[in-house]
Amino acid sequence: MCGIVGYIGYREAVPVLIKGLEHLEYRGYDSAGVAFITQKTGHIHVIKQKGKLARLKEDLRDVHLTSSVGIGHTRWATHGQPSRANAHPHMDMAGQIALVHNGIIENYAALKKELQHQGMTFQSETDTEVAANLIGSYYRKGCLVEALQKAVKRLEGFFAFAVIAKEEPDKLVVFKRSNPLVIGIGRGENFVASDAPAIMPYTNRVVYLEDDEFAILTRQNVQIFSLKTGKRVKRKPTTIHWSIAQAAKGGYPHFMLKEIFEQPRVVEMILKTRLRKGKIIFEKLDSKIAERLKHTQRIHFVSCGTAYHAGLVGSYMLGECLRVPVTTTVSSEFRYGDPTVGKHDLVILITQSGETADTLAAMREAKNKGALTLAIVNVVGSTIAREADWVIYTYAGPEIGVASTKAYLAQLATLALFSIFMAQIHPKGKIGHTKIHSLLRDLSKLPLQITETLKLETKINACAKDLYSKRTFLYLGRGYNYPTALEGALKLKEITYAHAHGYPAGEMKHGPIALIDKNQPVICICPRTSHTYEKMLSNIEEIRARKGIVLSVATRGDHAVQKLSRYTFFITKTEEMFSAVLAAIPIQLFAYKVASLNGRDVDQPRNLAKSVTVE
Ligand code: F6R
Repeated sequence: MCGIVGYIGYREAVPVLIKGLEHLEYRGYDSAGVAFITQKTGHIHVIKQKGKLARLKEDLRDVHLTSSVGIGHTRWATHGQPSRANAHPHMDMAGQIALVHNGIIENYAALKKELQHQGMTFQSETDTEVAANLIGSYYRKGCLVEALQKAVKRLEGFFAFAVIAKEEPDKLVVFKRSNPLVIGIGRGENFVASDAPAIMPYTNRVVYLEDDEFAILTRQNVQIFSLKTGKRVKRKPTTIHWSIAQAAKGGYPHFMLKEIFEQPRVVEMILKTRLRKGKIIFEKLDSKIAERLKHTQRIHFVSCGTAYHAGLVGSYMLGECLRVPVTTTVSSEFRYGDPTVGKHDLVILITQSGETADTLAAMREAKNKGALTLAIVNVVGSTIAREADWVIYTYAGPEIGVASTKAYLAQLATLALFSIFMAQIHPKGKIGHTKIHSLLRDLSKLPLQITETLKLETKINACAKDLYSKRTFLYLGRGYNYPTALEGALKLKEITYAHAHGYPAGEMKHGPIALIDKNQPVICICPRTSHTYEKMLSNIEEIRARKGIVLSVATRGDHAVQKLSRYTFFITKTEEMFSAVLAAIPIQLFAYKVASLNGRDVDQPRNLAKSVTVE
């Protein structure tokens, strides 16, 4: 997500901050900035810019101010478009403090109102500026730490902060809740960053902050305190032995694997942001759009690739929640298919990048015909997000591996919430309170269940070692997990270059069964909660009868499926609606392991681009 850097020491601060930010560029960002206390005037100087660091560096070229304490940031937009005004650092209205922030402050809207009542005005749309003003409202000369302590006690959400105060030029104060912060220990200088690569050019002695800890950095010293007890925490520095490139991947060999392992946190973040006290919250839903949603007569999912598979899962979810016809079409077919849509239709565009050419054209076509367009997008401020009538962001953070993993899971979690929300507001909602309650309960268990599923890695590795030289794979599933079969096949073919085919299992007898012999691996997605479980079991029997190699994804404890399979990957029992979320994990890991064993360029497979902005 966003990147934080902070420095206090004897060097010129700004070049240290810029170099640190350069080492965080791989994470993706849409704007950048620095704030520093100038030695000459003692004021805080903020320079920030939309776009790449090169633009910020250009702005800095004519600034001849010296400073030895400062903070820097690369922003990946969550609240408000990418713009200079929304870029960090943010100052409080009185110009006393400057703040950089990673994460999301969930109760920022209520706090903003409160501060506005006190007469404060805001320059940006960000939650960060609200936090800056809250800290500022508590600030008294010499008491930055106390002001930060008071402020964070009032904030809800996930955040990491680095703050400087004009009146305290010999101090840099940082705080962490959920979002990472690492402190770099130097001699006569100290550093802080959201990610180790930013400080590794200077030191490899680091201390990781734990949740709800704050630290005071001076030139000579680093002191850590617990927010709860107020007591000092003693922690010995550890030494990083990785290279900067390895550290960028958090110790994982590839970004794809790192992103697969980020999925519990991504889903947790979505649920924490969108689900409050049993109520589903979507921002920017004005009354006009809410009214049109209630009168929707047909829903169309339109997207490409992995996002198309998310749309398919979404169509099953909406089908379970609403008595309204739902279709799913790939964008390139929709845009040229003269689609029959009008003012009572809702067209949902799903896209990680928000820039996919076919999806953009499909959205414009739907808008021209009078349909209501909803974009489910990861990249804030992207073209599709800006042009759609309504946007729901997926909060997956930047995805660097070309093969989509965490963005897909974020799309599924968002679609689950949206489907339940539609059941609540639409007159044709099909499910009542009890079912909604049980769905929300199971939904909130997903982050832990995803973590549990990730433990399959070792077993999947052994299975991949057995099968990585195979050149063709078949994936079968039904209902919610028919899209999982398609997604499994897509993941495998795009990063391993082996042929893989996903099929609805009910179609097996209509063709693909001819492929099956003792050399053919077939991955069967067969959760016990599926209403077509018995049918899937019969499919597996048929594959066995022809000596095919069965790999299954099954519900923990399902020995019937296990007995028929060479390898079984167990997932936790969950509502059928969420089985596709858990089943996605083993198929992602399997593709990853097969690709690595074949020595493929996992993060940048041949011929593929992360964002397909041409037809
Ligand atoms: C596959 C993959 C692609 C994208 C597709 C749509 O792993 O990443 O299939 O899903 O190109 O891209 P977005 O979601 O950016 O519209």
